[in-house]
Amino acid sequence: MDNTLSAHIITYGCQMNKRDGEILSDLLAGAGFYLSPTPQGCDVIVVLTCAVREHAVVRALGRIKDLSRHRRDNPNLLIAVGGCVAQTEAERIQEEAPFVGLIFGTSQLHHLPQLIEKALASTQTVLSLDTETSPDYLFAPTIGNRKNTVSAFIAVMRGCNNKCSYCIVPSARGPERYRPAEEIIEEAKILADAGYQQITLIGQNVNAWREDAMDFAELLRRVAQKSGIPHLRFVTSHPKNLSDGVIKAMAEEENICPALHLPLQSGSTRVLSAMGRGYTAEEYLRLVRRLQKALPGIALTTDLLVGFPGETEDDFSRTLRMVEEAPFDSAFTFKYSPRKHTSASELSETLTEEEKVARLQSLITRVQEVGRIQNRKRLGKSFTALIEGPAKRGGSLGRLASGHPIIVPEELAVGSWVEVEVNDISAWTLRGRVPSSAPAKKATSKI
Ligand code: SAH
Ligand code: SF4
Ligand code: F3S
Repeated sequence: MDNTLSAHIITYGCQMNKRDGEILSDLLAGAGFYLSPTPQGCDVIVVLTCAVREHAVVRALGRIKDLSRHRRDNPNLLIAVGGCVAQTEAERIQEEAPFVGLIFGTSQLHHLPQLIEKALASTQTVLSLDTETSPDYLFAPTIGNRKNTVSAFIAVMRGCNNKCSYCIVPSARGPERYRPAEEIIEEAKILADAGYQQITLIGQNVNAWREDAMDFAELLRRVAQKSGIPHLRFVTSHPKNLSDGVIKAMAEEENICPALHLPLQSGSTRVLSAMGRGYTAEEYLRLVRRLQKALPGIALTTDLLVGFPGETEDDFSRTLRMVEEAPFDSAFTFKYSPRKHTSASELSETLTEEEKVARLQSLITRVQEVGRIQNRKRLGKSFTALIEGPAKRGGSLGRLASGHPIIVPEELAVGSWVEVEVNDISAWTLRGRVPSSAPAKKATSKI
């Protein structure tokens, strides 16, 4: 009888969780599990959760409750919950979904095969929430079970040492731990040699990465030079840690994309200070000007958070103004959600839900207006695009060095490079056509 156990992994949340999901599948495959593309008929379903906003928690818990129906077909099914909700709200998972057999924390990934074995043999929920920092927390550099064959994430660090007053990530992920440069470079080389075209170095605050005298700027240069990967990106950059060295590396290394995700959160210095962000609105804008000078045409994206306790109309109007002043090509916009284990959760909220929704709505409108104005400059111009896959409604989906997605009607090979002329725009996504069938050589011009 075949006694291979089958597992299905479901991942919510940010790129860090997504990468953890890939690492988990490597681990489980290495331990002899069959990785199933669907939850049907599996012995184990693993859910990696996100706790950044209440909405994310509710969504993950809803999915977990829904998964319990698979227990009708297989009463021995083990549902295992990991990620940031597991780390911060294990009791809530036990209360709302008592059938969950294993709850494991964000530093326990490497123990999962043994934990699954233990939980399958137990009638009680197994809890494993220690925040130990094991030396093998990020595992060996390999291609592993990455599903995407063109673009890859490489985790350079875990955790966050900042204490933004609204944010649960530091308690969900623990303090910063940096992965050795040698391993990061090795992984980038392996991926480039295997034909990957795009690498994104990821961490909650990548600019804080360091190893002895080496800082993130130097790491970035070495990855760019030693891997030769055509498109190199990195997220997330905290404005207070973005050094001139990184800006210089971006300007000088041909293969570092001229695109930066630089979360602003608020355009009001007063709110930024209450958030504990460590920079003023003016400092942020000065940083943007330095970037624009070093990298003319750089694409800037950001995160904006509305409705923080005490945010006045005037504070909010400063955020709206900053969208134009920067200007941002796109932004992720969020409504403040009080989180347990954060200092801001002790502040009473000063805005009603309706007021928060209204501010979010007008912010989204402004972001889209500005994104569209930015994109107008791209209309009629040609850019080199990397084809990432088929587009939803036919044709292909590509990505420019600026990070913009571009849809073309032609069906092109995944991983190929084409010269595309932009003939239609929206607030973020572009549309274009491929004027000649000759494939592009990889970008010679950065913007
Ligand atoms: N490390 C990144 C962000 C991680 S969380 C950084 O420092 O920028 C991603 C985004 O979620 C944040 O930038 C913030 O805009 C948003 N966010 C975090 N906590 C939130 C909360 N309590 N309510 C609403 N949005 C939040
Ligand atoms: Fe959260 Fe701030 Fe750390 Fe980003 S830098 S993860 S917002 S605490
Ligand atoms: Fe969410 Fe955890 Fe990432 S809270 S945003 S999955 S670090």
